[in-house]
Amino acid sequence: MFDTVIHGGTIYTPEQSFVGDIGINGETIAEIKEGGGLEGTQVIDATNKCVFPGFIDPHVHIHLPFMGTNAIDDHESASKAALVGGTTTIIEMICPGSDDEPASAFTEWKDLAEDGCCCDYTFHLAVVRFDELAKEQLRKLVANEGVQSFKIFLAYKGALNISDENLLELMKLAKELGVTITAHCENAEAIDSKQKELLTEGKTGPEWHEPSRPRNVEAGGVQHLCEFAEQTGATVYVVHTSCGEAVSRAMEAKERGVDVTVEAVAPHLVLDKTYAERPNFEGAKFVMSPPLRDEEEHEALWNGLANGLVSTIGTDHAPFNFKGQKDMGTENFTLIPNGIPSIQERIDLVHTYGVCKGKIDSRTMVDVCSTNVAKQFNMFPRKGALVVGSDADIVVYDTDYVGTFKHEDGLSKIDYCGFEGMERKGRSDVVFLRGKVVAEQGKFVGETGSGIYLPR
Ligand code: URP
Ligand code: ZN
Ligand code: ZN
Repeated sequence: MFDTVIHGGTIYTPEQSFVGDIGINGETIAEIKEGGGLEGTQVIDATNKCVFPGFIDPHVHIHLPFMGTNAIDDHESASKAALVGGTTTIIEMICPGSDDEPASAFTEWKDLAEDGCCCDYTFHLAVVRFDELAKEQLRKLVANEGVQSFKIFLAYKGALNISDENLLELMKLAKELGVTITAHCENAEAIDSKQKELLTEGKTGPEWHEPSRPRNVEAGGVQHLCEFAEQTGATVYVVHTSCGEAVSRAMEAKERGVDVTVEAVAPHLVLDKTYAERPNFEGAKFVMSPPLRDEEEHEALWNGLANGLVSTIGTDHAPFNFKGQKDMGTENFTLIPNGIPSIQERIDLVHTYGVCKGKIDSRTMVDVCSTNVAKQFNMFPRKGALVVGSDADIVVYDTDYVGTFKHEDGLSKIDYCGFEGMERKGRSDVVFLRGKVVAEQGKFVGETGSGIYLPR
């Protein structure tokens, strides 16, 4: 007799899928039986539904002091949104300022998460300051706190961006420590110069955000990162890749032996740059970096996912309210805080516009939204897999659900939904976090603050 049995669903293990039962004891998967027949104190009927491993979002911003303001979610609101959307683990970016010490930034972010995070969490640590003290602290955070990935920004001149000199040194350190460098690849100088040019010409609206950071500026950033990775032997992970050109630069480097992995994020897969061209400043809701591109880039990204060139899908959840935050840039698009949140919608967007449209299959969805993330960031098989002994993070997914994406369904604090009114097929019906039901049919039913930190 198990504590809980999930009965009769199509179970996705790492190797295969079949109809059967999962038995859970405490926080752990205790048995998986094809054909079923397990008995439990609590039985969840998953007949005609899919049973997926809890999804993992590799790219989330919650506490984010950025562009003169702070992202609007806290760990409680963002993690509740994540869980109802089927995401049971998040990797948040710690983004300190250039004067901040890495050790205090780590403590600040971890304390905030401990306070209210309802899903499990771990961090990528952005390296903005890189003097001797910072280097020493980075070594200690890796050795003692389970930090296994750094983040660098080639973009955001004068704020988060790292110099070439420091990037090369950091890559050597990362190689020595066995740490992955995740990277935002857009050239800061090229963007700064384009922005100034456009503003001088009186081009101040959100529709000019994309032209200020064109595809070649992103692809060039990927190329640059990969050249340094080739020189140093560092492992690199390109975040939020928006276009085929950038994927190609990474794949060319991979063929030369560079250890590079590519991430896509939900907004780039389903929204295009015409959203940022909407009148009356509404386009500001759709300003993120790299920017939304032409619709044809969706195809390049979905093909990349189907062919294994793109390995993961995250969100780059970075919520800034339309009123009071995005409108800081009404006169100047460079002042619009960057971000299109999707922590709650990610899985249903991928299901609706990827699986249901035949761009990728369900197995690929599981791989890129869960298993590959766990493998890439040293959490597998505790996370990202339905196998005996793994954490019982499980999503019973209703593929027959039909609806639309609506702001009123959102648990994030954001005042708009970037996918408002778009068709939605599929919903996380029941979500388990380490053996406990935490979300049911779009409602959070867990305990606030029950997420734990995952040292890696
Ligand atoms: O537009 C974005 N991506 N905002 C969040 C910060 C970042 O670059 O990831
Ligand atoms: Zn970024
Ligand atoms: Zn980001």
